[in-house]
Amino acid sequence: MTAPGIRKLKSSGKKIVCITAYDVFSGAIADESGADLILVGDSVGNVVLGMETTIPVEMDDMLHHTMACRQGVSKALLVADLPFGSYQSSVEQAVDNAVDLAKAGAEAVKLEGTFTDQISAIAKAGIPVMGHVGMTPQSVNAFGGFRVQGRKAQGEQVMAEAKEIQDAGAFGIVLELIPADLAAKITEELDIPTIGIGAGPSCSGQIQVFHDVLGLNADVFKHAKVYVEGRKLLGDGLKTYVSEVKTGTFPTEDNSF
Ligand code: KIV
Repeated sequence: MTAPGIRKLKSSGKKIVCITAYDVFSGAIADESGADLILVGDSVGNVVLGMETTIPVEMDDMLHHTMACRQGVSKALLVADLPFGSYQSSVEQAVDNAVDLAKAGAEAVKLEGTFTDQISAIAKAGIPVMGHVGMTPQSVNAFGGFRVQGRKAQGEQVMAEAKEIQDAGAFGIVLELIPADLAAKITEELDIPTIGIGAGPSCSGQIQVFHDVLGLNADVFKHAKVYVEGRKLLGDGLKTYVSEVKTGTFPTEDNSF
C-alpha cells in the first residue's frame, strides 16, 4: 500500500482499515490481518510504556518502535506519529524529525493540529503527511480531559481545521472523538480520506488501537470494540504454563533432548 493508494481507496468507495502497532510482533499480526495502514502511534506511551498520556513520548521512543514495527510490516502503509514537542517549534524541527522517522522505516508521518506550514514542508520533502483533528491527545491539558470535540458551534472550527490541513497537502486525516454527523459532513466536503476513531461510520476508514480491539487493555472504551478477550486468553495460557512447571507436567520427554 502507498499514500496515493490510500487516497484512491476513498475515490473508489472502498473503506480504509487502519490499526496501530508498536513492534515486530504487533506489526506482523496487523499486516497479516489485511489492514491497509498501520500506525506506529504515540499511543505507544499509553499502551506499551505505561504512561498516563502521550505527552511524555519522545522522538527516540518513536524511532525505536518504528524500526521494530518496520520488521513486521511488508504490505500495509507504515505511518509513524510525530510525538509532542517534535514539530511545534519550527518547520525545520518538523522536517528533520519527519526525515528521521522516514529513515527508521515510516512511509508517512502523522501530526496533530493545524501546523499547516509544517505539513506543507514535510510533504515538499517527499514524505506523505496525515493530519489529525478533533480530540488530539497531545493537547489533552488544553481540552481539560479526553472529551468529544466539535459539538454544536465548535463543529465549524473542526471543519475549517480539516480543510486547512487538506489544503496544506495532507493525504489523509484522522478525526478523533467528534460527533458522527460532523464526521460525515467533513468526509463529504474533503477530497482526502477521513479516518475515524470515535467519529461514526461515515468516515472513509477507521483506525483502532491494537490493544483495544484485541482486549489487551484493562480499560474498555465506547469508541472501540473488543474482538477477542486477549488479556484473558494470554493470561490463561501463562497460568497453565506456571501450573505445569510447578506440578512437573512440563517439560516432558517430548520437550527434551
Ligand atoms: O497514537 C495513536 O494511536 C493515534 C490513533 C488513535 C489515531 O493517534
